Amino acid sequence: MGKPFYVTTAIHYVNDLPHIGHMYENIVADVIARHRRRMGDDVWFLTGTDEHGQKIERSAAKEGILPIELADRVVEHHHELWKRLDISHDDFIRTTESRHRLGVLELIRRIEEKNPGDIYLGEHSGWYCQSEETFIPENQVRDGKDESGHPVEMTTERNYFFKLSAYTDRLLAHYRENPGFVKPASRLNEVVSFVKEGLKDLSISRTAIKWGIPFPGNPDHVIYVWMDALTNYIAALGFGSNDDAKVGKFWPADIHLVGKDIVRFHAVYWPAFLMAAGIELPKSVVGHGWWLRDNEKISKSLGNVVRPYNILDDFGPDALRYYVLREMVFGQDQNYSDEALLNRYNADLANDLGNTLSRAVKMSDTYFGGKTPPIPCNDNDLEKAAKQIVPEYLRAMDDLAFQRALEIAWKLVTATNGYIVAKEPWKMFKENGADDALSRVLWNCLEAARIVWVMMAPFLPRSTKLALERIGADPSFISHEALQWGGLPNGAPIQATDPIFPRVDISQYIGKKMDETTNAAPPAEATQAAAPDAARISIDQFKEVDLRVAEVRAAERVPKSKKLLKLTVSTGEEERTIVAGIGTKYQPEELVGRKIVIVANLQPAKLMGVESNGMVLAAELNGEPSLLSVDAGTPAGTKVR
Ligand code: ME8
Ligand code: MG
Repeated sequence: MGKPFYVTTAIHYVNDLPHIGHMYENIVADVIARHRRRMGDDVWFLTGTDEHGQKIERSAAKEGILPIELADRVVEHHHELWKRLDISHDDFIRTTESRHRLGVLELIRRIEEKNPGDIYLGEHSGWYCQSEETFIPENQVRDGKDESGHPVEMTTERNYFFKLSAYTDRLLAHYRENPGFVKPASRLNEVVSFVKEGLKDLSISRTAIKWGIPFPGNPDHVIYVWMDALTNYIAALGFGSNDDAKVGKFWPADIHLVGKDIVRFHAVYWPAFLMAAGIELPKSVVGHGWWLRDNEKISKSLGNVVRPYNILDDFGPDALRYYVLREMVFGQDQNYSDEALLNRYNADLANDLGNTLSRAVKMSDTYFGGKTPPIPCNDNDLEKAAKQIVPEYLRAMDDLAFQRALEIAWKLVTATNGYIVAKEPWKMFKENGADDALSRVLWNCLEAARIVWVMMAPFLPRSTKLALERIGADPSFISHEALQWGGLPNGAPIQATDPIFPRVDISQYIGKKMDETTNAAPPAEATQAAAPDAARISIDQFKEVDLRVAEVRAAERVPKSKKLLKLTVSTGEEERTIVAGIGTKYQPEELVGRKIVIVANLQPAKLMGVESNGMVLAAELNGEPSLLSVDAGTPAGTKVR
């Protein structure tokens, strides 16, 4: 077995069903776990539920049931959802389990043993936020609300405290010596400045709440929130039980993956608790960004949750997994939209990935009798491309730059498409039949597609299995070696069947399903009044605009501009230069070979010194362009109307 690798998600509150933010977190952790397994590590992947505390006590009381009844019911939905999303966790911890309680009690015992006085009974007043179940520092309270807009109240309590203030210097030293402890780096800076402001002791018990782990030696108190919740990561490994073999093997954790709102608790409280108890600190706390709706964090308390269960029903897990990883720059925030998800699905999965695969499979099926071609090839453009792309992709995976990893993998999709177009295997077959040259060309296409799919394995586990079977590859051959050129057998049976990602008619789907999919407000377009007739144009006016399909032949950045790309496009008869403001989203390399739509009869204009002849059509979403594209088979020059 390889080296142990331990990755955790936050434990999610059990007072509600998971929403897109929770789904994202488990999908990312799953991608990390699958990637590490593929690289040969001995992975342990933990997720679970946070079941104590006031929120759950109250939700249960509202329903007239016991908190544990609520937790038992809701946790089933968590299990079911993770299964539907193909989340491959090795363990699931509930904080109501006795193994969790044993872990928490052991942590407190060790702190009291190693650092007597670090836990003491005291009195505390401060701004308390019910919704977040935490005291909010004075400087974050404005007009009776915290930074997320939750109301706060001045509260005084007598309870147990942890002497967090004593750990300021040791924490700062730890951040200094381990700059990778908090990722991304911007999050580390936030944590450092928070700690530098000085830490207050932390209240770790409550008397007003009954639903929790009784405080050792003083059962009037229950252990409160973070001392309880954070300990799950080590309790799940058997800490405090009579079998702690997994603690020895997997602790310290490699990655605690959490949302940016709770990085502070993981990067300040948790290491301080562990220092006090004389336990090794986790290697990294990784903070991801938020899924937003109309630029607001999606959360139950804000009432704007999105749960794309319909999308999951209708398109399976991979459409959602792909969207969240491709759309969100890891660490940053991102608006969710069903429409953007389906656009990605159509453009990237149905079109690019699906078509490339099915073209190569169909041709091999026809020309080589339902088998992979008989002759391999180890010296060709696709092999060279793969040798360059795979290491770049692996670096991005190791950097947790998932969006970049997908973009890089896509270069091989584009290269394969370009190779098919350039080689014209259908012509080769017409001219010379299924000869050795054709065998090599189609084998190359399938082999490149195989490597693309092995790169996709952590992201699209279900489709990868299907695709590899269709290609004639072993669907369980997903490893570091499987990323090397040459793994596709010759003469293996292939399957030319229905597309893995059938296209969807987005406008129809959204019209039918949008309101059920989300329980947020209908999209702005739906509520806008129809434009008055005077503002409409006639069909003849529209016809004045010459819209054409064009193929990008070359692309480069306009010097000193972040946004502008200089594209050389072919309109069938001629090549021309167009300057397009799409450089924040698209890399020049990924555009070459792509079919786009242009306004062909626009007067020339100079942009940063470069003459532009025409305009590229793109949708704009939150300032980010999204290129219009057409089916790959549409020739350049085709009129658009
Ligand atoms: O915080 N976008 O639980 P939770 C992205 N029980 N991620 C989001 C999100 C969004 N809109 N909303 C929530 C808790 N999350 C505690 C954790 S850990 C010892 C205890 C993320 O159910 C959130 O940042 O509110 C957190 O990482 C996870 O979902 C669970 O959130
Ligand atoms: Mg939360």
